[in-house]
Amino acid sequence: MPYLPRRRDWDLSSLMDPVLASEVRCSREQARAFEPRLWMDLVAEYDARLLEAELARRASELDQPFSEEFGLFLKAWSLDEAKHADGLARLYRLVMGVTQEELDDRLRQRTGNFRGFDELLDDEFQLSVLFAYDEAMSTRGYGDDIPFYASLGPPAFGKLLRHLKNDEAVHYANAVELLGTRFPDRAGDVPEVMAKIIELDVAQESYEATFVLDHVSAEFTVDQMRQVGASVGAAIVRRLGASAASA
Ligand SMILES: [Fe+2]
Ligand SMILES: [Fe+2]
Repeated sequence: MPYLPRRRDWDLSSLMDPVLASEVRCSREQARAFEPRLWMDLVAEYDARLLEAELARRASELDQPFSEEFGLFLKAWSLDEAKHADGLARLYRLVMGVTQEELDDRLRQRTGNFRGFDELLDDEFQLSVLFAYDEAMSTRGYGDDIPFYASLGPPAFGKLLRHLKNDEAVHYANAVELLGTRFPDRAGDVPEVMAKIIELDVAQESYEATFVLDHVSAEFTVDQMRQVGASVGAAIVRRLGASAASA
């Protein structure tokens, strides 16, 4: 069967267009206190475009270019992440009372620093394991975030976060399927790559607009990174085992 990444079908405009700033239940003071968290979640989505550009730049210099299947995965992923950034930008504007122009000015200044990730980003197998891990972490993070966003008032906020969480779970599943399609005989290499990814994630001291490994915050613990890494690694090995058995 050819590889086809899945995308969930939901409409951002019909969810967020009707929301009014007057429905937001937090004071100016609270909004200021929440701002760093809202901003971090927004930029973590926005930065997908920086990672995509970085991968395109690297791909043009690689001896072995990324596969067509990987291209399909990335396209579906980038459409969703742009939609997530748009959704969280709308939410940010409603809570913080800024204009889209002000937000765009600030976002346009972002640049990613991908130093230290070279080996992971230049190899499709390792990159796919990295995506699986990172998207599983996002799924977990958004699951934990839903009560906070719902507490801001408009019911659409909680619904938006639920969509984001469910999309991230699909990205995770798409990455595992991609590995099953492209690398059926690499199950034995998964533990070492996953260990390297977790080590890198744990060692991050600051987030430098890379989209991946953005877990330097109070919301994630080292234990969570290790737990998620172990369960994602096991899921990939199971999937690769299944493709090897059916080959
Ligand atoms: Fe996302
Ligand atoms: Fe995602």
